[in-house]
Amino acid sequence: MFEDRIQYFLKLTSMEACRNTARSDGSALPSLKKAEEGTTQYIPLTDPAMLPDLPCNLMEVFECRESVRTYTKQSITQKELSTILWCTQGVKMELSNGKTYRNVPAAGGMHSLETYLYIQRVESLEEGLYRYLPYEHVLVMLETRNTIEASFLNSFPNRSMVEQSAITLVWTSILERLSYGYGARSLRYTFLDAGHVCENLYLVAQALRLGVCAVGAFEDEDLNAALKLDTQEEVAIYAATVGKI
Ligand SMILES: Cc1cc2nc3c(=O)[nH]c(=O)nc-3n(C[C@H](O)[C@H](O)[C@H](O)COP(=O)(O)O)c2cc1C
Repeated sequence: MFEDRIQYFLKLTSMEACRNTARSDGSALPSLKKAEEGTTQYIPLTDPAMLPDLPCNLMEVFECRESVRTYTKQSITQKELSTILWCTQGVKMELSNGKTYRNVPAAGGMHSLETYLYIQRVESLEEGLYRYLPYEHVLVMLETRNTIEASFLNSFPNRSMVEQSAITLVWTSILERLSYGYGARSLRYTFLDAGHVCENLYLVAQALRLGVCAVGAFEDEDLNAALKLDTQEEVAIYAATVGKI
């Protein structure tokens, strides 16, 4: 039965099944930039040009990378937060059609992912839920901690790891960005994109001497509801905890 489902998924998402797409029909490129709702106050992050170099041995970073599941109560700095976001989703160049070159690869350069942050311990930042705006390299606050804490934490079977974290990142997928060109095959690509992002997080955290753990175990409906996502358009697909060790 399980094997049947895998075969079904592979067929559903095969190259053959993805020939007729919005792109091949001549439709316009979908928006690659998520709109902000209401009046938004940007919270600036340290300018990437001002971030300190991280002199490190690349082989050592690879070899020492590991998942760390317990963290101290120490806060991470704004520079560390900016570095993490820059390395995982930072925009290096924006093209006239809205596409971007970033510090991570993404299928077709469509960058289907958005980054939400549940922040508990970052110097001089109020605790709560934020979204990263990669084009501007800023944060926007979505909710204060007291209104989201219970629903967010309860979405994770390993609640204690999230509770201890300085930040927990959640990557959501806006599949339309990919299905425009790849149809059902985008179901593969968006998860592959997320894997690259999280690996960059592991590597930069290793260079910063921070602890990270990828999190695939969460209750989909609960987390989507906690983030107030319109699940017809956007769903949570991957998460990671980060903290001082
Ligand atoms: C896709 C994915 C999902 C994961 N989900 C979880 C998780 O929900 N909880 C957890 O504690 N670790 C999770 N991990 C971490 C793995 O358990 C870990 O990478 C693995 O045990 C190997 O250990 P290492 O990362 O220290 O090399 C996940 C890793 C990946 C790649």
